[in-house]
Amino acid sequence: MQYRRFGKTGRDVSVIGFGAWAIGSAWGQVDDKDSLAALHAAADAGVTLIDTADVYGDGHSEKLIGRFLRERKGERFFVATKMGRSVPQVPENYNPEAFRGWVDASRERLGMDKLDLIQLHCPPTPIFYSPETFAALDALVADGSIASYGVSVEKVEEALKAIEFPGIATVQIIFNIMRQRPADHFLAEAKRRDVGVLARVPLASGMLTGKMTRSTRFEESDHRQFNRHGESFDVGETFAGVDYEKGLDFVEELRALVPGDATMAQLALRWILMNEGVTAAIPGAKNPDQARANAAAADLAALSPASMSKIQALYEERVKPLVHQRW
Ligand SMILES: NC(=O)c1ccc[n+]([C@@H]2O[C@H](COP(=O)([O-])OP(=O)(O)OC[C@H]3O[C@@H](n4cnc5c(N)ncnc54)[C@H](OP(=O)(O)O)[C@@H]3O)[C@@H](O)[C@H]2O)c1
Repeated sequence: MQYRRFGKTGRDVSVIGFGAWAIGSAWGQVDDKDSLAALHAAADAGVTLIDTADVYGDGHSEKLIGRFLRERKGERFFVATKMGRSVPQVPENYNPEAFRGWVDASRERLGMDKLDLIQLHCPPTPIFYSPETFAALDALVADGSIASYGVSVEKVEEALKAIEFPGIATVQIIFNIMRQRPADHFLAEAKRRDVGVLARVPLASGMLTGKMTRSTRFEESDHRQFNRHGESFDVGETFAGVDYEKGLDFVEELRALVPGDATMAQLALRWILMNEGVTAAIPGAKNPDQARANAAAADLAALSPASMSKIQALYEERVKPLVHQRW
């Protein structure tokens, strides 16, 4: 495992984290035993960063992580959680009283006196223009209930606006081989301002593992079924917003570039880490095998300049026209 400094949090975290959305809900049935085993397998492989949210399984993901932290007492992990999606998405709902209640509820479920990091969970765009919001977060740092705060965003422009606020320690954004615009406009600026960056949806909801086909079926309760066209939340969160069939065609072309000692998922994760403005990729893993395979991507050799240019050319030709201008 490799470790990088996580922006203004001042902490070092593993470059592969553990995305804990799937172990909460929205991805079909998951078994708590598998979820806990996945967390332990990740930790055994050197993963120290876990990303979750209050709404993942309506608190269930945080509770499982709280249990995991008790089981690994004495070891230090970095838990990044999020708040704000449990209420209608209007700016008035992002206020100091709500923040206090959400933070206290997450502290309780996670069993942490002080949260390592709270992220606003893709808030409405006007929030990024509201100094009062960030002042309320400063107050939570000052009273010791959180160590740091950051934002999770949909759009590059929201990320750029957010990091104008000096208290923003981290930004979480969709960044993967099928979503490359943050590299053009955001990563260098985040680095310049010492803002940590989490690359979410790094496997394009599993598409970049290369295991999906035109006949793959998902459960009704899996967002890859119910949100394929953005029916429930931003379509960019599902397959990174790329049309399913077109994404499959792109993935077929990528196969030739997978190094002999790696899987396509590992290529996808290693590609993200080639970008030094990224602190960590946070793949979601549902079982120990996935967690171990994802962690191992950190130790793959750097991709060659020839591979990087071929990936770039493929992206430009097949995917860029579909998504680049949208987020
Ligand atoms: N708004 C936000 O802030 C937001 C939104 C989305 C995600 N996130 C965060 O980002 C994390 C990761 O993104 P994501 O979960 O959407 O998508 P992802 O990491 O791109 O894909 C995860 C899915 O891919 C499959 N998978 C994972 N590792 C694998 C492996 N090694 N081999 C084969 N299949 C594998 C699993 O599903 P199957 O086995 O069922 O295929 C898994 O659920 C989330 O857990 C969450 O922490 C945040």
